[in-house]
Amino acid sequence: MGAPGGGKGTISKKILKDFKFNHISTGDILRKHVQDKTELGLIANSYMVKGALVPDTVVIDMLRLIHKNKKNDESLLLDGFPRTIEQAKQLSTIFPIDCLISLDIPHQTIIDRLSNRWIHAPSGRIYSYDYNPPKIHNKDDITGEPLSQRDDDKPETISKRLVSYEQMTKPLIEYYRNHSKNTHVEVFQGTESDVIYPNVKNYLLKHFKTK
Ligand code: AP5
Ligand code: MG
Repeated sequence: MGAPGGGKGTISKKILKDFKFNHISTGDILRKHVQDKTELGLIANSYMVKGALVPDTVVIDMLRLIHKNKKNDESLLLDGFPRTIEQAKQLSTIFPIDCLISLDIPHQTIIDRLSNRWIHAPSGRIYSYDYNPPKIHNKDDITGEPLSQRDDDKPETISKRLVSYEQMTKPLIEYYRNHSKNTHVEVFQGTESDVIYPNVKNYLLKHFKTK
């Protein structure tokens, strides 16, 4: 977990190079529904464009479906879920959480970064013209398709997402510390994903084997 733009997607990508997980980003899944104009996408979009969380029931149903299709020996890397106490409670009835990684990044760093973020919408691949620019301007490295900006990366929407994170999601750190004895909770502070990642990797090595 971590505030919007805190580097969850960026750190997840680094984790996947070293460890074998199935990466589940609820934000990416919801954006795919929005793009495909599914019924779920139409509901989700009305919240996402305002910088609000999508109702718990919608994302929990999505997670139940993922669980139904999950292979037995597979470990999941959940990016952006749970985001409320209710989601955490429901999740505990679906799968156990071994580790909680929280990225604690200053808000000003986040605001500066998000206006610079470009994505390849179909895959969720993330680019930034400062940090990891595409090889060809405005084109996805793998497919060559055009990049776009997320609708919720407008400055006023970013502020709302940050408020919602502080109010609804950050309390989960204490919730897991107090209510989930088998979950290892670790908070990583910093401004640079490249500096933070080696610490995340060392932490994960205590609990999981590398590829
Ligand atoms: P989601 O897609 O999860 O958005 P978010 O939490 O707001 O987080 P982001 O994806 O914006 O940021 P990130 O932490 O992944 O950072 P990134 O790696 O891209 O959710 C979107 C919406 O869906 C929510 O607002 C909500 O409405 C809904 N939703 C999703 N899950 C939900 C749930 N469980 N319950 C209810 N609603 C839900 O990095 C950011 C930028 O920084 C990038 O451009 C990156 O290239 C750059 N960067 C990273 N590291 C560095 C560095 N070291 N130096 C410079 N730039 C860097
Ligand atoms: Mg993300």
